This record gives sequence, structure tokens and C-alpha cells, in this order.
Amino acid sequence: MVAGGGCGRPCGDAPSRLIPSLYDIEKDGVAFGSPLLLAMLRGRILGGSLRCDSMAQVLKGRWPMSDPYADLAAQDEALQERIADAMDTRCREPEQIAIRAAYLADIRLPAGALAVEFGSGTGHVTKDLVKLAGAAHALGLEPSPVMVARARRHFANAADVSFETADAKATGLATGSVDMVLMHTLLCHVPGPQDVIREAFRVLKPGGVLAICDGDYDTATCQIADFDPLDQLVRFMIHQNVTNLWIMRQIGAMLAGAGFELGQRRSHGYVAQGDAAYFQTVIERGADRMTETGLLFEETAQALKAEARKRVSKDRFFGFMSYVSQMAYKPQGGQVGA
Ligand SMILES: C[S@@+](CC[C@H](N)C(=O)[O-])C[C@H]1O[C@@H](n2cnc3c(N)ncnc32)[C@H](O)[C@@H]1O
Repeated sequence: MVAGGGCGRPCGDAPSRLIPSLYDIEKDGVAFGSPLLLAMLRGRILGGSLRCDSMAQVLKGRWPMSDPYADLAAQDEALQERIADAMDTRCREPEQIAIRAAYLADIRLPAGALAVEFGSGTGHVTKDLVKLAGAAHALGLEPSPVMVARARRHFANAADVSFETADAKATGLATGSVDMVLMHTLLCHVPGPQDVIREAFRVLKPGGVLAICDGDYDTATCQIADFDPLDQLVRFMIHQNVTNLWIMRQIGAMLAGAGFELGQRRSHGYVAQGDAAYFQTVIERGADRMTETGLLFEETAQALKAEARKRVSKDRFFGFMSYVSQMAYKPQGGQVGA
């Protein structure tokens, strides 16, 4: 029923298609079981918090849902700016910087190396390629002009980073021209991640390194006890904003299939600290999205946001998710499309 069944895409797209995310199901109009199954799946995720009219929407197959990061340039500008703010917040958190430092420390680049970040957002992680991985120049590629403009503003005075608008599936970079490619929280948002991996293989020099780090999003939680209503916001946001929750559980086979040799794999626990700034953006956006979709009344969303803020102020907030990083190498003498 599941793998490639009726989705109209080549079955060779598995394994990301083996367990399609709900995004895939609706975005692609997949004939995946009955509307009732969909309703049950959503009921499982959202627990008892579904309003009746929302359930009716689900049953009619009209649940408004998408991962805005999968096509950020198509979103309205206010949403793109809000997402850019959340990216800046996340990137600047010391715990997030520590995750990047931990896996980028595994990399040894040659003198004068060119490193490219696919999906560079607001640019902080691109800058890490110089600061933490030792690249001579780092180029960030990103399809959203709003993100590119913000990244350029952040690093206007840095001669060793630059940003261009481009799709990671067809970067326009010359074959075999790059020492390192980085994908930091990109692939979970991309339908067809194999195309991006193939492009990385093409542009890398033989012996070049691909570093991938992404959330293991099914671990995301702010639950502090059974039936914690705040956790529903986190679960909802993750399911609304991530195309493939399990990308890092599938990545090894995808990389090997594209011709890469696998290197170091690490896990990185992320626990919200202090004012839990990034997790608060998740909760605030989750509450607003629940209201937009008609799932929550405005006053309920406001109450849940207030609950999150109060937990922080009373040292009762807990937010956690795990990230996974994976290194991979293009073999010396590796052929494009191997
Ligand atoms: C979660 S953000 C991560 C940004 C940055 N790497 C960071 O960690 O701050 C994912 C980014 O990937 C970009 N993206 C999505 N699909 C893409 C594609 N096909 N090619 C290149 N970038 C893409 C989005 O526009 C977004 O800026």
C-alpha cells in the first residue's frame, strides 16, 4: 500500500517514500488509504484537541497543510521574514553553535578550499564553513531572495562569504569544482532529497566532503508529563513544517546509493536553555498555525502561548530534540552518477 503505491512518482524514490510524511500524502494527492485513515493519523498526532469542524475538514480531505520551507520563495513575504527571524534565533543559540562546532570539527579541508552550503537561509551556518571548518571561501546557495538578502546584510563586511539564489537540485556550479558541501537542516524539507545528494556528488572534487546535519524531528518534544497540551503545538509544528521527519534515519542508504563513502555519524541532543528562545518560536508559530487552520480558537492559542512563557519564567519549561550529523566522501576517482 505504501511504497510508491499510486503516488505517480517513480518507486525508485524510496526510501524516503517508504513512510511518506503526511505532507507528501496531501501535497502530492497520494491515494494513501481512505480519508478515514488520514483522519485517524491526524487524530493520533493531535490527540483529543481536534475541533469538530477541523475533523470535518480532514474527512473531506481539505486540511490545509504544507512545509513552507520546501518552497520558501513562494510564501508571502511576511511569513518568510518571520521564518528568517526564527532561523536567526536558532542559529545564534550557543547550544546550536555547539552542535555545528562538534560535527564541523571532523572536517579537514585543503588550503584555499571552497565550501558551499546548500539551503543557506540567513547565512550563519555558511559563515561557520570559514570559522569552524577552515574554508578559505564559503558560498551559500538558497532559493528564497528574502533569505539571500538577509544573509548578505548579516555578512556585508565579510569578504570570505557570499550568497546567491539557487536551487540545490541544479546549482549551476561546475562539475568537480568544490571541496566541501554542507546541508544543515535542508534535506528534511526537500521532496526528492536524492536529487540534492546527486548534485552534491556532481559538484564535489574527488575526495571532497559532504556534511549533512538535520533534526531527527520525531524526537522533538516539550512534554513534561502525560497529556501535556503544550506538546501538541510542537508536534503540530513539526508535522506542518517538515517534509521528512526521518531523513537522518534514511540518509546512509541514500548516500551510498549516490556513490558516497560514509564517514562519521554523530548524534547531538538539543535541550532548550534559559529563555528557550528557539522553542518559543516553535510554540508561537504552532499556536498561530493552529488558529489559521481553524483547529484552535484565538483565545486558546493565546492561552497556550502564555502557558509556555510562564513555564519559562517559573523554570518549568522543557524542550528537546535530537540532531544527527553524517559525513560522506566522494571517492578519489569517483565518477559523476556512480
Ligand atoms: C531550515 S532552513 C535552514 C537554513 C540554514 N541552513 C540554517 O540552518 O540556518 C532550510 C532552508 O533550505 C532552503 N531550501 C529548501 N529547498 C531548497 C532547495 N531545493 N534548494 C536549496 N535550498 C532549499 C529553504 O529555503 C530554507 O532557507
